[in-house]
Amino acid sequence: MKFYLATAFYCLSLTTTDAFSAVAPNAAKTAPSVDPVDKSMTSLPKETNAFDPTAGENAALQRNNKNEVWLPQRARPRRNRKSPAMRGMVRENIVTPSNFIYPLFIHDEDFNQPIPSMPGCERHSLDSMLREVGESYALGVKTFVLFPKVPDELKTNMGVEAYNPEGIVPRAIRMIKAAYPDTIVCTDVALDPYSDQGHDGVVEDGKILNDVTIHQLCKQAVCQARAGADVVAPSDMMDGRVKAIRDALDAEGFTDVSILSYTAKYASAYYGPFRDALDSHPGFGDKKTYQQDPANGREALIEAALDAAEGADMLMVKPGMPYLDVIRRLKDYSPLPIAAYHVSGEYAMIKAACEKGWLNEKDVVLETLMCFKRAGADIILTYYAKQAAQWMKDDGLY
Ligand code: PBG
Repeated sequence: MKFYLATAFYCLSLTTTDAFSAVAPNAAKTAPSVDPVDKSMTSLPKETNAFDPTAGENAALQRNNKNEVWLPQRARPRRNRKSPAMRGMVRENIVTPSNFIYPLFIHDEDFNQPIPSMPGCERHSLDSMLREVGESYALGVKTFVLFPKVPDELKTNMGVEAYNPEGIVPRAIRMIKAAYPDTIVCTDVALDPYSDQGHDGVVEDGKILNDVTIHQLCKQAVCQARAGADVVAPSDMMDGRVKAIRDALDAEGFTDVSILSYTAKYASAYYGPFRDALDSHPGFGDKKTYQQDPANGREALIEAALDAAEGADMLMVKPGMPYLDVIRRLKDYSPLPIAAYHVSGEYAMIKAACEKGWLNEKDVVLETLMCFKRAGADIILTYYAKQAAQWMKDDGLY
């Protein structure tokens, strides 16, 4: 009896985080021993006027054959949660390092530059980037996306540095593919790191020009493909860019290069730390004439329909956590793989709370990543990719 009670208490005491420690029993705390409970509840001290839930015509609880208090009900959802093995058996979703895309900031320097608003992230030198790729790869993270910090003197309105074959991104791609040919290297297709206007496209009279920008993006995507990119990811939100980029890649023989489209990319305040990292804050105004209004969910379906028709291989929602409903909508709407971007501001919020000791970083991160899966994301872009893979390995999950 005592053993049974202890076991029951142990099961109850497991927190939600055990989804990630199911095969790591030592991660759960052992329950302190308590006195056996008299389930007839008759030995409790009798308080004057205290309500008796088993008394009266409409008693809330009855008694079973053993005189134990009993709430008659056949369905008890807690039966499927009663042990780590049971929870593991019925678990609907699982996150593995192979679901992650790890964004890496790079710059053309021989040192690393920490990013104050993203503690733990830095702009890597190319050598350091390669080490980070290697260490992540060893942990099962095999897909990376590169974001360059470009010096001001290389920034122009037309963003011509974006398709310089000797630019930092093509060199980084070649380095990674030479050292780790089995990785998947993704690139961002957009002009903002290369724009002296701080916008994702070419600017004229305060307006972001759609088709002229796409002309530049096609050059950028082909340049990245020539360097060995496996996946190009247009994040610019110009209309028709997926079709044009697909046609450009195909015309150059890159029919195997995939397009991961930033389908539902919102004009979000959560990108602030990323723009710090790349020094790419908009030079004027905001990005609301091309990125989506955070008020709109259905509008994402227009973008999804177009991207699918134009040849996108995967659809992305960005940011992640505040937009889980959009992830679910796209998942229900399209059979294409869905990606979620756990963006810089989301990362910064978690880091800040954890630095203050207000949240447990490992638990909250692994829960967050699982929530993306549950919402419908097949792929998760996260600055936590390597760290999460390390935690999963430490816990013996993979
Ligand atoms: C730019 C781009 C942005 C991000 C990815 N690609 C910023 C922006 O649109 O201003 C943001 C990623 C993040 O915040 O982590 N094309």
